[in-house]
Amino acid sequence: MRLVIKETSEDVSEWAAKYLIKKINDFKPSADKHFVLGLPTGGTPLRMYEKLIEYYHDGEISFKYVKTFNMDEYVNLPKDHEQSYHYYMWNNFFRKVDIPPANVSLLDGNASDLDKECREYEEKIVEAGGIDLFIGGIGPDGHIAFNEPGSSLASRTRVKTLAQDTIRANARFFDDDISKVPKKALSVGVGTVMDAREVMILVTGTQKAFALYKAVEEGINHMWTVSAFQQHPHTVIVCDEDATLELR
Ligand code: F6R
Repeated sequence: MRLVIKETSEDVSEWAAKYLIKKINDFKPSADKHFVLGLPTGGTPLRMYEKLIEYYHDGEISFKYVKTFNMDEYVNLPKDHEQSYHYYMWNNFFRKVDIPPANVSLLDGNASDLDKECREYEEKIVEAGGIDLFIGGIGPDGHIAFNEPGSSLASRTRVKTLAQDTIRANARFFDDDISKVPKKALSVGVGTVMDAREVMILVTGTQKAFALYKAVEEGINHMWTVSAFQQHPHTVIVCDEDATLELR
């Protein structure tokens, strides 16, 4: 596992955007071979998406030969709801670059058969050739995607009941009304992300410092699911100095 420490969260976004651009530009696509990218939502990657859009406008990157798979989506939230991850991804990124809509995959939290939706998502990733680079963020409790503390480190895409802490933390996005917060989500598993050829995890802010310490300085533990990536052959964690405060 490689740890890249940048001074500020802005530097983390810039580094991550540049890293991704290089990976895509170095890739030799063909009609049946795309660069396959796993993507997160949340506050941490927002600035990276903005930078990718800027670089796209400057002609430094095209997403024409990129396929994407998002990490997660709420269950039973309409796709056009402002807090849905569909809405987030289309409004913050996909709509603003040249990715063909058919190349975008997001879990459908409104599917009539959620287990089937999850199974098919895993199959679709395999059909695409596996994920070349999975970008992720983590929560203060070390979760990656919705793999909350206690999730199996071998888990695959599935329906997850959200931890009470997560539901409470998310209430701020739902008019501070806990009853409006979705209680379930579909999420790729830790095993799904571990299968990616490369993983890049963005960690910024003092509120993530303890999770970063657990991720890199303590043993692998399913109570801190991000720690699983210690066993991944190509994981880079990109963090700012604030996030390093608990490192020894
Ligand atoms: C996002 C996701 C989560 C977030 C994590 C951090 O798709 O699955 O793991 O990356 O909750 O969120 P932020 O960046 O908002 O602190």
